[in-house]
Amino acid sequence: MSKIITVFGATGNQGRSVIQHIISDVKLSKEFRIRGVTRDTSKPTSKALEGQGVTLVKACPSIKKSKAGK
Ligand SMILES: NC(=O)c1ccc[n+]([C@@H]2O[C@H](COP(=O)([O-])OP(=O)(O)OC[C@H]3O[C@@H](n4cnc5c(N)ncnc54)[C@H](OP(=O)(O)O)[C@@H]3O)[C@@H](O)[C@H]2O)c1
Repeated sequence: MSKIITVFGATGNQGRSVIQHIISDVKLSKEFRIRGVTRDTSKPTSKALEGQGVTLVKACPSIKKSKAGK
């Protein structure tokens, strides 16, 4: 079973860069399933990531009670 890697800020420049690196690496893409955290799972950037096989979860890292994946 593959491990899950959670990327906060998945839709941003840094997050997308990390995700693209994992997806395009033969070894890492087999090792990890990617979970991306965003405040808006419906926006085009989120949908594009979903199209690449990323699981998007809605949460806001700046709100204490917001829990990704719950
Ligand atoms: N770009 C660089 O070269 C670089 C280099 C070194 C360090 N950094 C640091 O890395 C971090 C991310 O940079 P980035 O360039 O990827 O930024 P970015 O493109 O603006 O993306 C940041 C992501 O964080 C989320 N976000 C924005 N405001 C938020 C808020 N108030 N509360 C919760 N989530 C919020 C947004 O995702 P959603 O809207 O989908 O929730 C957004 O996609 C920053 O702290 C930056 O200083 C960037």
